[in-house]
Amino acid sequence: MARIVLGIESSCDETGVGLVRLHGDGTVELLADDVASSVEQHARFGGVVPEVASRAHLEAMTPTAERALATAGLSLSDVDAIAVTAGPGLAGALLVGVAAAKAYAAALNVPLFGVNHLAGHIAVDTLQHGPLPSPCLALLVSGGHTQLLRVDDVATTITEIGSTVDDAAGEAYDKVARVLELPYPGGPPIDTAARRGNPAAIAFPRGMTGPRDAAFDFSFSGLKTAVARWVEAAERRGETIPVDDVAASFQEAVADVLTAKAVRAATEAGIGTLVISGGVAANSRLSTLAAERCVEAGIELRVPRPRLCTDNGAMIAALGAHVLAAGVKPSALDLSADPSLPV
Ligand code: KG4
Ligand code: ZN
Repeated sequence: MARIVLGIESSCDETGVGLVRLHGDGTVELLADDVASSVEQHARFGGVVPEVASRAHLEAMTPTAERALATAGLSLSDVDAIAVTAGPGLAGALLVGVAAAKAYAAALNVPLFGVNHLAGHIAVDTLQHGPLPSPCLALLVSGGHTQLLRVDDVATTITEIGSTVDDAAGEAYDKVARVLELPYPGGPPIDTAARRGNPAAIAFPRGMTGPRDAAFDFSFSGLKTAVARWVEAAERRGETIPVDDVAASFQEAVADVLTAKAVRAATEAGIGTLVISGGVAANSRLSTLAAERCVEAGIELRVPRPRLCTDNGAMIAALGAHVLAAGVKPSALDLSADPSLPV
């Protein structure tokens, strides 16, 4: 029998409510995905302001849920389970989603599942490309995270095999955008500028690729500093900054390191499928280079469409459906948020 799962996401600056249908054969169908973002309220600070995000979640939560239900043509009484991001994320922001989820679960008398945001970024791919092969490798790249994960079962068994030792990939984009006087969030404007520039113009460093570095960890803070130093030096010489070339050269360094490590990790572990997700997965160079290198290595590449890659409620609903199908015990109603929840 098909079951409806409502998913709630509020770990950062997006209030997301998604609805999915879990079919008897374990496949999961997307019914609605509504997102309210407070990104514009954070733009002038160049990053997410936690208190502003929490307040925005409070205001947006109920209207977002109502819009999602209306889109799916459902009412709350049709919902069979609630899933919510329990972490990782901003404490105050997470608490708004967890409180809303508990209220829905208690009022409807349906099971509640507190789930992991990072696993949600992987589970969302099943809405577009169907069930995930086991095992598969996930490269998760967003404003808050940069991780390589081995996924044996997205509902129950995910193992981290590498992560950033400093900045996340998206954070590096946002910081470099500030240096280049491009708007926040920096990913889209850098991506656009980079398409006009020469990726070989400046040889920026590839972090954590030395022989003594951990094979699957990442570092972007040295790259960010190298870009800032290069721009400062050019300014001191009174030169106009070649923004397109700097953007293209920076973007090439990020895409090179991410795809090289992901493909090597998959090859060494004998894993045949790579999933790339998170906001940075929308990057044009990252997806092109990943596609080229995956073809060379004989690896299947799955990248969900950009709308599913950025934070949303559908990813949490999808993960909730897989968790429900796996027979995982529901969370108690005293579920609390865990800002540093591990996978
Ligand atoms: O997954 P997401 O929406 O939120 C987090 O969980 O962080 O990711 C947002 C990040 C931002 O840092 C943004 O600059 C980056 O994704 N981003 C991109 C692109 N679009 C968004 N980075 C590179 N290229 C893009 N096209
Ligand atoms: Zn995210």
